[in-house]
Amino acid sequence: MANDPQSLNAGTASTRAGTPSASATGKAASLRVQGVSAGYGAVQVLQDISLEVADGQTVALLGTNGNGKSTLMKCIMGMVTPSAGQVVATIDGVTHDLVGMPTERIVDLGIALVPEGRRLFPRLTVEENLLLGAYRPAARSEIARNLDFCFEAFPRLHERRTQLAGSMSGGEQQMVALARALMTVPRILLIDEPSVGLAPIFVSRTIDKIAELKQRYGLTVLMAEQNFNQAIRIADSGHVIVHGHLEFHGRTRAELSDNDMVRKLYLGA
Ligand SMILES: Nc1ncnc2c1ncn2[C@@H]1O[C@H](COP(=O)(O)OP(=O)(O)O)[C@@H](O)[C@H]1O
Ligand SMILES: [Mg+2]
Repeated sequence: MANDPQSLNAGTASTRAGTPSASATGKAASLRVQGVSAGYGAVQVLQDISLEVADGQTVALLGTNGNGKSTLMKCIMGMVTPSAGQVVATIDGVTHDLVGMPTERIVDLGIALVPEGRRLFPRLTVEENLLLGAYRPAARSEIARNLDFCFEAFPRLHERRTQLAGSMSGGEQQMVALARALMTVPRILLIDEPSVGLAPIFVSRTIDKIAELKQRYGLTVLMAEQNFNQAIRIADSGHVIVHGHLEFHGRTRAELSDNDMVRKLYLGA
C-alpha cells in the first residue's frame, strides 16, 4: 500500500506543470552572471559580463551576429567554461554555483536551453523529439505527464505528433524546440535566437508563445535575440552586447528603445 504510485506522485513537488506562478507558491528562480570572461583557446570572446535575471523576469540579450550571445548561453549551461567570473542560480532559496558543474547537473537543477538553430532530430517524429527532452530524472519519472503538459502548451504539436520534425516549417520546428525544453520542467529557460531564420509571421508568433509560456508557468527567461523590435515586445529589461562587452543595460523597455546606440544599431536611426 505504501507503494501506491498515485500517492507517491502526489508527494513529489518536482513537476511545476500547471502551477500558476512561482511567486504564488513561494518558489523563485533567478540567475546571476558576475564578471564572466570566456573564449575558445586563445580567442577571448566574452569580457567581464555581469547581468541578472530576477525571478519571473524576461531579460533580452541583444546583439548582432558574432558578439558572444551564444557563448554566454553556453557558459551558463556549462558547455563553455569561463576563464573568470561566476554564474549563480538561486532556486527556491538554494544557491548553486554553476561554473565547473556538468551540463546534465545544470539541467537537473531546472535550467534549460533552447539552442540556436533548434537542433532537432529531423528524422524523428515530433513526439520522439520531445521524449528526448525528458532528461532530468525528475522529468523522466513523470514523462507521460510532462508530455501532456507540452501538448497542452502546444496543441498544434499534438495534432502533428507523428510527423517527422524535419518536414515541418521553421516556425513549427521552433515550437518543437521550445516544447522539448519544457519536457525538462525548467524553472529558468535560456532561449538562443528563437526568431532566426523564421518568416516574419512566425517570428511574432514565436515571441508571443514565449511570453505566454513565461506567464503561464512562471518561468524566468534569458533570451538572446538580434530582432530588437520583437524582443523588446516581451522583455522586462535588456542588455546590448557588442564584441563580448555589455555596452548598455536598459532597465525597462522604454530605456532600451530610447537609447542612442540601440537606435543606431537596431532601428536604423
Ligand atoms: N566553437 C568555437 N570555436 C572558436 N570560436 C568560436 C566558437 N564559437 C563561437 N566562436 C567565435 O566567438 C565569437 C562569438 O560567437 P557567438 O557566441 O556564437 O556569437 P553570437 O551568438 O552573438 O552570434 C565569434 O567570433 C565566433 O566566431
Ligand atoms: Mg548565436
